[in-house]
Amino acid sequence: MGSLRSFNLKQYIDTFQLTGFIETGLGWGHGIQYARTFEFEKLYSIEISPQVVIKYYNTYKHDCKIETIVGNSIDGLELVFEQKIASQFKYLIFLDAHFPAADLGVAGFNDEKDNSIKYPLLNELKIIKELRADKGFKDVIIIDDLSFYSKSHKFPDSHLISHFGITPPDNDDCLDLIMNYFNETHESFLIEKFSGFGVFVPR
Ligand SMILES: C[S@@+](CC[C@H](N)C(=O)[O-])C[C@H]1O[C@@H](n2cnc3c(N)ncnc32)[C@H](O)[C@@H]1O
Repeated sequence: MGSLRSFNLKQYIDTFQLTGFIETGLGWGHGIQYARTFEFEKLYSIEISPQVVIKYYNTYKHDCKIETIVGNSIDGLELVFEQKIASQFKYLIFLDAHFPAADLGVAGFNDEKDNSIKYPLLNELKIIKELRADKGFKDVIIIDDLSFYSKSHKFPDSHLISHFGITPPDNDDCLDLIMNYFNETHESFLIEKFSGFGVFVPR
């Protein structure tokens, strides 16, 4: 619903000396397409749907800086963070995974019955906190589509949830929990555009 293009990544790259990019949810490929125009040394996109990855394979196969990881975002994040090389990077982490394969139209928005796969955000935050923030890594984190988690706070595109008949996550009113998740290590900003962005920058 939102787009990473809403952000001038250069400003974050320069201010926080970011060298790597990680996205959860390849989807239409817009995020990685935009991110590759900046000078990241390494870019990862983690996507649960093999059909989505195959669709973009030819676009990115010649770019050795880009690696697509097929799988659940939790496993993918763990895989990236536990590589030895991860300690050399400061990442821009873009969290945009939900509704396996629904963007391609090969699945419906409510087909995935396991909420932890359909809405992986809270588990993604947990793993980023444990494996990165709490260990002193100074990554920048951008979350898209906060509207799924903020029943009592309306963003401009919040109405699209009922428009598309989307069943919200079990924990559909946890905006404060999310925005305070990295309080000890990051400053947070709520961006009231589209379906709501959260931005977390190192203190
Ligand atoms: C909104 S799209 C991503 C859009 C993309 N970031 C862009 O900028 O074009 C969400 C994507 O997340 C994927 N996805 C859904 N659940 C996932 C999960 N648990 N782990 C990884 N990817 C997931 C979907 O298959 C879909 O391709």
